[in-house]
Amino acid sequence: MCGIVGYIGSQRAYDILIQGLKRLEYRGYDSAGVALVDDAGHLTVHKSMGKVANLEQVAAAGPLDGSLGIAHTRWATHGEPSDLNAHPHVSQSGMIALVHNGTIENYAVLKKVLIEHGYEFKSETDTEVLVQLIEYIKLTSSCSLLDAVREALLQVEGAYAIAVVEQNDPDNLIVARKSSPLVIGVGDGETFIASDATPIVGYTDKVIYLKDNEIALLRRNEPVQILSLTDNKPSTINIQKLRLSLAQLEKGGYDTFMLKEIFEQPSTLRDCLRGRIVDKANRVVLSGVELNKDKFLNAERITLVACGTSWHAALIGKRLIQDFCKMPVEVEYASEFRYGNPVLNEKDIVISISQSGETADTLAAIQLAREKGAFVYGICNVVGASIPRNTDSGTYIHVGPEIGVASTKAFTGQVTVLTLLALSVGHLRGAIDQKTLHEVASALEKMPATIEKALKVDAEVQKLSRIFTYAHNFLYLGRGYNYPTALEGALKLKEISYIHAEGYPAAEMKHGPIALIDHEMPSVIIAPSDSLYDKIISNVQQVKSRGGAVVAIISKGNKAMSEIADFCIEIPEVPECLTPLVASIPLQLLAYYIAVNKGKDVDQPRNLAKSVTVE
Ligand code: G6P
Repeated sequence: MCGIVGYIGSQRAYDILIQGLKRLEYRGYDSAGVALVDDAGHLTVHKSMGKVANLEQVAAAGPLDGSLGIAHTRWATHGEPSDLNAHPHVSQSGMIALVHNGTIENYAVLKKVLIEHGYEFKSETDTEVLVQLIEYIKLTSSCSLLDAVREALLQVEGAYAIAVVEQNDPDNLIVARKSSPLVIGVGDGETFIASDATPIVGYTDKVIYLKDNEIALLRRNEPVQILSLTDNKPSTINIQKLRLSLAQLEKGGYDTFMLKEIFEQPSTLRDCLRGRIVDKANRVVLSGVELNKDKFLNAERITLVACGTSWHAALIGKRLIQDFCKMPVEVEYASEFRYGNPVLNEKDIVISISQSGETADTLAAIQLAREKGAFVYGICNVVGASIPRNTDSGTYIHVGPEIGVASTKAFTGQVTVLTLLALSVGHLRGAIDQKTLHEVASALEKMPATIEKALKVDAEVQKLSRIFTYAHNFLYLGRGYNYPTALEGALKLKEISYIHAEGYPAAEMKHGPIALIDHEMPSVIIAPSDSLYDKIISNVQQVKSRGGAVVAIISKGNKAMSEIADFCIEIPEVPECLTPLVASIPLQLLAYYIAVNKGKDVDQPRNLAKSVTVE
């Protein structure tokens, strides 16, 4: 979703801003723009629909001077994608430029007042209202830009991360945030800002994560100043070390980030597991659990909240926690939970799962859970993101930056951490026997090597993908632990190939989707040799007898299914609770190759955003 970059220093801002926008492309966007203030105090704005490359073409006519600038990739919320609606937006007099990530909820009221004061609007965006409001306040109260921004933000309802520059002041960049992320990179005589740390990597490893309701004044050659938006008092500045490398942000020889991330899974899971399975796989250590033993011992219920792929991981987490901790578990979409009047108290643990740690609905859900007294635990990938900073405790999945919009390695990292959590809490509560713990922990410890084996189906899946590239609909069926795997497999295909795909619990198929099955609708069945294997065989027979083609994901060497299904893909044998991890691999590859066969942009599928920072 929208991305912001800004720079003030001694280098040409344009080059840094364009490179920064390219690093933010993965978040998803439909237009881009840049505003530059040159040393003589001239403001230039270039904007364009489509990719950053289009912006570069438009901007090539120049001017491109200035060592101060802000830039933006826009994901449309208010107003269609267009050159006019693209950011930066400029105030009526042409004096102030602003980029914004978020939503101004009371923009219509503010706009009406500004129109009464003679302001005219060029775009349909909520953002233009904010920049006009800042100018109006600045002109009517003859105050500084900082005071005008602060005053305007106090009138705004909604979410924002903003960056503002003024044409007469080439030494001044102002940023602020509420419920939308913003990172400040502190360099030597230069300062960077961005929606996440990726544009900053390579310039500096010193970062400040701006907090909600903070405004920062970034003056050339001066230390960063941060104030509270509410009382205007200076905030404590906490400079942190960024642990991201440029290599992690590159494709590393693969055609796409998604393929790189699929193939990285053995090593990302190794990082995810490091130091967490100890004593010859007889004990699992998660510091977030160890430090909060009482909470986990006394809890009466766990609720998992998440969105998208993370919600699928949560569904698997539910089964793991039920099986190993023997306690009640609920799974909620964060967007439903936050408006569903959840009944919670201090005996509740709410676990949020999020790759980005910035999903607006998940953030709001945990804030609500904390207000209601629940203990909130976060499972997150991006270190230092808003969600881990707003939870009581948590665990990072440590799978490195995920750039492909369709989540792959984050999903397997989330499921791995949920397995570790269920084992460690189960042990703490005396709900799991030592033999089971050892068996699952040993298999999990070997998971990087097992995934390596699972990836060997690559060429076979690529071949298979050609048969199904032009199908219009797909059904994905699974049971038990692999019903969520079916949902995730279907989501992967939808996201990147734009083929309609439905994930369903295999036995529920006969209550509806079976009506859709004919020779044109393939079904992908996730059927490892588990406790529900015999049941799923009869579900497959129901599909076959209606003419549907069947691709079955089966455990290595399983004969029965291979006699019924049209195509079988074998996965290594693992304990039942770990089958989603291995079964996901061929599903990721199948979606990937079908999308590639169709010529789709797998890393940046249309309309989707990597980090969904608006409701
Ligand atoms: C978007 C992404 C998905 C992701 C979901 C939740 O829809 O495209 O890949 O699963 O948001 O994001 P989170 O960062 O909270 O896991």
